[in-house]
Amino acid sequence: MREESKNILNPEYLPKHIGIIMDGNGRWATNRNLPRFMGHKEGSLRVLDIVKKCYELKIPYLTLFAFSTENWTRPESEVKNLFLLLRGFIEKYIDEMNENEIRLNVIGDISPLKEDLRKSIENSLELTKNNKKMVVNIALNYGGQDEIIMATKKIAEEVKKGNLLPEEISKETFESYLYTAHQPPMDLMVRPSGELRVSNFTLYQMAYSEFWFSDVLWPDFTPEVLEKALGDYMSRNRRFGGI
Ligand code: FPP
Repeated sequence: MREESKNILNPEYLPKHIGIIMDGNGRWATNRNLPRFMGHKEGSLRVLDIVKKCYELKIPYLTLFAFSTENWTRPESEVKNLFLLLRGFIEKYIDEMNENEIRLNVIGDISPLKEDLRKSIENSLELTKNNKKMVVNIALNYGGQDEIIMATKKIAEEVKKGNLLPEEISKETFESYLYTAHQPPMDLMVRPSGELRVSNFTLYQMAYSEFWFSDVLWPDFTPEVLEKALGDYMSRNRRFGGI
């Protein structure tokens, strides 16, 4: 393969699935003497920029970590504001996403969310469910360990009912019980804000992800930063355990 063909305008070499841990909103706001919420608000604008950039580049799957199973320990006002922001964002942009044939998908357990937010999410999922150009997964009340346990419980139920034999549980079977069923594995996992950890993000899907870390805080994560990540990704030699 000629190296010059590996540029980011060539979808063949781009990741099919990118995951982003959107971190650093609080620090971005604190650095400016603003309330933390302003960091989340500015961060939600980057969500829009990055979805648009991935769409332009024809990256078919984007997974964004918006709220973890551990984020409930934050002050109640911050949790409330985050959900308000999320609802506002979905309601403002869902029609535009739909017109562009983008499917919104939620990974995580939304059952504990307030009914109005849950309904708004469910309507958006229903509206966009047949869209084929791109899938945007929002991880919401999501934890990688929880997801694996959830899938295991569902499989155990099927075995108990006699619908599945233990020897039929293959990698493919297992994956079909995850929130990301029928989606490709995560090729690239990006974490801004200088933290070097995966924080219970998509543990199963990241088995062979390339990791890209940056000190940039999420509200400063422009499409140019994503281009840098993609350039670095394409210069990596992915061997998937081979030589
Ligand atoms: C982590 O930064 C960020 C979050 C917990 C929330 C992410 C949410 C958004 C970007 C906005 C809404 C999302 C969508 C999809 C519209 P942090 O608060 O932990 O930052 P810190 O580590 O600097 O305190």
